[in-house]
Amino acid sequence: MKFLRLLILFLFIQSHAQQGGMWIPSLLKGMNETEMKNLGMKISAEDIYSVNKSSLKDAVPHFDGGCTAEMISNKGLLLTNHHCGFDNIQSHSTVEHDYLTDGFWAYSLEEELPNKDLFVRFIVRIEDVTTKVLEGVASLSNESDKQRKIQENISNLTNSSPKESWQENSIKTFYDGNQYILFVTETFKDVRLVGAPPSSIGKFGSDTDNWVWPRHTGDFSLFRVYADKNNKPAEYSKDNVPYVPKHFFPISLESLKENDFTMVMGYPGRTQEYLPSFAVEQIVNTLNPAKIEVRDAALKVQDGFMRKDKAIKIQYASKYASVANYWKKWIGETKGLKKSNAIAIKQKFEKEFQEKVAKAGKQAEYGNLLSEFEKNYSDINDYALARDLFSEVALRNTELLSVGYKLYQLEQILNTKGEQSFNDRRNNLVNGLGDFYKDFNSNVDEKVFEQLITIYSKLYPSQFLPENLKNIDAEKLSKEVYSNSKFVSYDKIKELLTGDSKTVIANMNNDKGYQIIKAIADSYFNQIAPKYDEINLKNTALQRTYMKAILELSPKSARIFPDANSTLRVTYGKIKGYKPSDAVYYEPFTSLDGVMEKYIPGDYEFDVPQKLITLYNNKDYGNYGVNGKMPVCFIATNHTTGGNSGSPALDKNGNLIGLNFDRVWEGTMSDIYYSPDICRNIMVDVRYILFIIDKYANAKNIINELKINYPTKKKTKK
Ligand code: ARG
Ligand code: ASP
Repeated sequence: MKFLRLLILFLFIQSHAQQGGMWIPSLLKGMNETEMKNLGMKISAEDIYSVNKSSLKDAVPHFDGGCTAEMISNKGLLLTNHHCGFDNIQSHSTVEHDYLTDGFWAYSLEEELPNKDLFVRFIVRIEDVTTKVLEGVASLSNESDKQRKIQENISNLTNSSPKESWQENSIKTFYDGNQYILFVTETFKDVRLVGAPPSSIGKFGSDTDNWVWPRHTGDFSLFRVYADKNNKPAEYSKDNVPYVPKHFFPISLESLKENDFTMVMGYPGRTQEYLPSFAVEQIVNTLNPAKIEVRDAALKVQDGFMRKDKAIKIQYASKYASVANYWKKWIGETKGLKKSNAIAIKQKFEKEFQEKVAKAGKQAEYGNLLSEFEKNYSDINDYALARDLFSEVALRNTELLSVGYKLYQLEQILNTKGEQSFNDRRNNLVNGLGDFYKDFNSNVDEKVFEQLITIYSKLYPSQFLPENLKNIDAEKLSKEVYSNSKFVSYDKIKELLTGDSKTVIANMNNDKGYQIIKAIADSYFNQIAPKYDEINLKNTALQRTYMKAILELSPKSARIFPDANSTLRVTYGKIKGYKPSDAVYYEPFTSLDGVMEKYIPGDYEFDVPQKLITLYNNKDYGNYGVNGKMPVCFIATNHTTGGNSGSPALDKNGNLIGLNFDRVWEGTMSDIYYSPDICRNIMVDVRYILFIIDKYANAKNIINELKINYPTKKKTKK
């Protein structure tokens, strides 16, 4: 009997330990630490985050604001994904020196390449400041006043909290405004490119394999962080020296097996796990389909041009990849939400929530939350759709309109801030646009415009559609715009922006392209944004109260983690396969054999470099193969999202075993609804990374810097 009870408890812990969650590293003691140890972790919460000694968090910087990276040597060597370093690799590439195609390796510090604007940010300290941020807020009744007071408190605290002169303070909200945390950080701005495999390794499978398991991508690149002579952050200088981090990860070459403990540390960007069902319905039925349709059209046009023209291919590679990435994610997310019955599950949760509210006698406080949500989401529907179309068509995917929008803002600045601000902004614009036009092709964009303006006028709520976009002949309109607008080249737009403010504004307003973006932006700012913001503010307040209620009414043992907000988190789980569909089971490991199975000579997605084929044929795997196979990728139940790319995957001892870069197709809905059955994160095996650096690139200089723990049982031989 006792045994049975223990067994049930054990199974309960086991299954619960796999429910996902992204946790705050300074708050792991207690429930998380116990779960992690039950899963096999040997280190302690204090080893992961400590105020008193160096800890794992010191080796995990935010990379360029959007990805994660980790320190892997005491000389500033940093590992992240190929797709995270992509823009920088691309910016050093030309048709002659094509590092995207051929890869890049620095065999000495002198050969490393500096990157303008690239930065990495380390966390020094994390502190809960909720009480201070919410001081004086409860007594205010109006939501906008509350928000204003909170912002005021945040900015005072940010300015006054103690820090060193080279550090920054920032405060972020957690649990939708129920908790506030201060981060003290250090930002390093001299970060140089050290190595990148060719795209045929680093981006193997490209967009076809993106978000898909089984995966065979060596998605990594190497950089080095430089500091001044005192090991402090500094702007780029020839005299800077490699940064000595407080911690760097030793690398484990130990064999991995299913059910091994893994944890991932990183900066997940945004999740919405606590949305009400009405919001999820809107995403599934209205917003995702519209965004997918827009991007689908833009991508088809660009792809057509890129396949025919090598220069266009380089110009559009990075833009294409990032647009394609979320296009595909939204498709997977929509499917996954439907297949997993996420809406019905949310509705069931909401029914139970209502019951709990009633039982706790909290009707007055929480009883109307859901019906108010329902009304608001219905009221906001057209505005939310219009907002997404504005952002996808004008700001994101039609380049001429996105440039036009910058000029639109310039006109607003003149109207609101006057001549001086106008001149400053104009000069910045002229300088900044040079880079933009290097990667702009007017023929490509004209075709994109033609497609997207058609979709815009079809899907935009008709009561708000600007006059000049009603009943358009899109082909005629795009010819007219692209043969007359000055936005099609850097020289022309510079000319347009020359002269006193009156002349510039008059010329802008005469421009065909400007007339279109102005109508679109005016419609958005006059008819959509005010109403959208008004309803959205109500939803923000509701969501905060809803979250508070969920926290309050759930049992102590409930695993309620705060949604991702680009701050450092820890997620943990096990290496595990999954069943994507009836009769199919996916194993958790892939190998180089699979790369060769997918190999299509000359194909832009599935080509394999000759040298890798030779290494494969000779089974020349150095220290990195196991039983005659070269491991490539693996999956686990860690709960990750966008921003977790480049995150270290660690074993039970806190050693590096892999590099996170993606999620599996069936589980891409995990940002809204995490299901432990099918949500998996995808990592490159660290042995594949070392194999490529060592055997493929022969960069022994890099290997020699690393701290490598060789397998204990097996003797290693060269
Ligand atoms: N899906 C991954 C993430 O969201 C990888 C994206 C980069 N790869 C690509 N083929 N676009 O960022
Ligand atoms: N690929 C994503 C990233 O770049 C990670 C993910 O969404 O799973 O952060």
